[in-house]
Amino acid sequence: MDRPFSQACLNNRDPILNILKRVLQGCNTVLEIGSGTGQHAVWFGRHLPHLEWCTSDRIENHEGIKKWLEEEQIHNVHAPIALDVVKNSWPQATFDAIFSANTAHIMAWPEVEVFVTKAACVLPSGGRFCLYGPFDFKGREMAPSNKAFDAELKSRGAHQGIRKFDAINDLARKNNLVFSENNDLPANNHLLIWRKN
Ligand SMILES: C[S@@+](CC[C@H](N)C(=O)[O-])C[C@H]1O[C@@H](n2cnc3c(N)ncnc32)[C@H](O)[C@@H]1O
Repeated sequence: MDRPFSQACLNNRDPILNILKRVLQGCNTVLEIGSGTGQHAVWFGRHLPHLEWCTSDRIENHEGIKKWLEEEQIHNVHAPIALDVVKNSWPQATFDAIFSANTAHIMAWPEVEVFVTKAACVLPSGGRFCLYGPFDFKGREMAPSNKAFDAELKSRGAHQGIRKFDAINDLARKNNLVFSENNDLPANNHLLIWRKN
């Protein structure tokens, strides 16, 4: 198998990394949800060597993630955990941070609810919840490219779609996660950060 490749990951990895360098200071362990190809994990692991980066995803993506890990040999990036946020048990351990990119608009809303709730459970007080992707902000017109992407997602599956920031933030608040920052990133994406109370 050739390793899977995402051009979007290549484009967004450095803008995300620049924020993570600051936000993940003082953290030791990160659990990534929906690692996808594994490209983010190897890039962030290489450039944030103080972290133990734990990848996870649905089982069908594990072969590709493992291929990236084998070829890049980044010793602080760990083999994927089988973790569908709804169907699998979450690790018993706590993590200093959760990172997830481009997952909230792919998961059905009830899955997003479970995702945020369970993520909050594995974070200690002060733990960071870092969510990257396109979001819909009240009072801010969505960029044409995001409107088109939202329509494409909905045509692929009625359960998918760009999430409202307010809905995710309400969910986060109910789970003791306090919103701390919105980082505007290229291509109308955002890296949102919450901290556990
Ligand atoms: C668009 S891909 C993003 C992959 C990668 N994070 C990136 O930014 O390139 C969406 C990812 O979400 C994962 N995903 C979707 N539903 C999930 C669920 N219920 N639990 C865990 N992961 C899920 C998919 O397996 C896939 O890896």
